[in-house]
Amino acid sequence: MQLLIKNGILVLPQETVQADLFIENGEISQIESSISKEGIPYIDAKGSFVLPAGIDPHVHLSLSTPIGLTVDDFESGSKAALAGGTTTFIDFVTPRKGQNLIDAFIERKAVIGNCYCDFAFHMSIIEWRTEIPNEMEACVKEYGITSFKTYLAYRNSIGIDFDDLEKVMKTAKSLNVMVTIHAELGDIIDQLQNEAISKKHYDLIYHSKTRPDYTEYQAVEKIIELIRKTNCKTYIVHVSTAESLNKISKAQKEGLPIFAETCPQYFTFEESVYKDSRNKALGFIMSPPIRSEENRRGIEKAIADGQVSTLGTDHCPFTLEQKQKATNFTKVVNGTGGIQHRLSLFYSRFIASKKLSVNDMTKLASTHPAQFFRLPNKGKIAIGFDADLVIWKKTSEKIGKRILYSRSDIDIYADEQIQGKADIVIKAGKIVYQNGKLEKDLPQGHYLYRK
Ligand code: URP
Ligand code: ZN
Repeated sequence: MQLLIKNGILVLPQETVQADLFIENGEISQIESSISKEGIPYIDAKGSFVLPAGIDPHVHLSLSTPIGLTVDDFESGSKAALAGGTTTFIDFVTPRKGQNLIDAFIERKAVIGNCYCDFAFHMSIIEWRTEIPNEMEACVKEYGITSFKTYLAYRNSIGIDFDDLEKVMKTAKSLNVMVTIHAELGDIIDQLQNEAISKKHYDLIYHSKTRPDYTEYQAVEKIIELIRKTNCKTYIVHVSTAESLNKISKAQKEGLPIFAETCPQYFTFEESVYKDSRNKALGFIMSPPIRSEENRRGIEKAIADGQVSTLGTDHCPFTLEQKQKATNFTKVVNGTGGIQHRLSLFYSRFIASKKLSVNDMTKLASTHPAQFFRLPNKGKIAIGFDADLVIWKKTSEKIGKRILYSRSDIDIYADEQIQGKADIVIKAGKIVYQNGKLEKDLPQGHYLYRK
């Protein structure tokens, strides 16, 4: 299969150049100022950016929770991803207590079914057992899993304490792989929630009041101490406070291997969303919560100043009905969607407003996720790399007017006005999205074995 893209503005790692790009057998095979091929299908991308397609390092499809699965499975989640210009994502394996990590991985792979994006998994470590180091080694060496996820929140289910986190970090360091951490002080949050409930504070605003800023940045502080001890490569997921980013940035200057991910919800919204009607506010119950306007601006500034390494979504969508089941804020299932909107939201806030360049967007949304998580041949436009590409278009429209592919009936971004969007999406050299909708015949994605 061959495809030629002519006259586009190619977004390369350090520069943008107007050039033609030739794709063969799913890979980029030629980049020249002008390429002519007889009888080959071609796209005229004149005046448009051609970007490496997005890689979302943080999604939860078919995630099992006490109230049921997240509403997007790998089929609908990957469709939403493609429609937004993301062709690869990293989901999670979450073992049960006592379950061997490899068994959990095999079980997880069995639920995938149709998936039109390439994908990998972070392995969650939800407890410490004497067998964990051997199982982690098998994950890395036999199953291509080079990142491990830990949660400091959710202490009565999958969360671990700092002592166990240190053991995970030491083991990861010995295997030369990344530990990713949900940084919230779970014990303190549980205590604050119990106090709120005992005072009959049931309103949704207490979701954010019982997860104050310090429950994140003090967790980050303690993690930095552990990095000093272990020198483990560490990635903090969905950073939501300005103070956490400040601490991470200082630790980086000290030479520590720490990296920050944030998500569009933390630079788009501020906490008054919890005072909206109950049905609207339910969509924003996620952890960490939406924070103050000061934090929102702080996150925005830190991104513009280059203090954030990657952009994820934490795509974890539920239906309104699933969210409504809760009797008080502590019982509302956590999470929201966004995988289709990540690039548009970032472009609109940072590129259209000239705070950052389109190369910066590519770095956060594609190149860095590929490098940090060792995704083979992904994340940049270069010869021999996968032909996962996006032809970008300037626009001015509301997200809610587009064809949305998530199965959730909640879209917290529906009213957001965007300035740019994926116009044509190419996955492994094949057009999968154009004219505002997905193509009928989508090829299956592949599990990415990481080395
Ligand atoms: O509220 C959230 N973020 N739910 C998904 C699980 C997690 O904590 O990332
Ligand atoms: Zn998550």
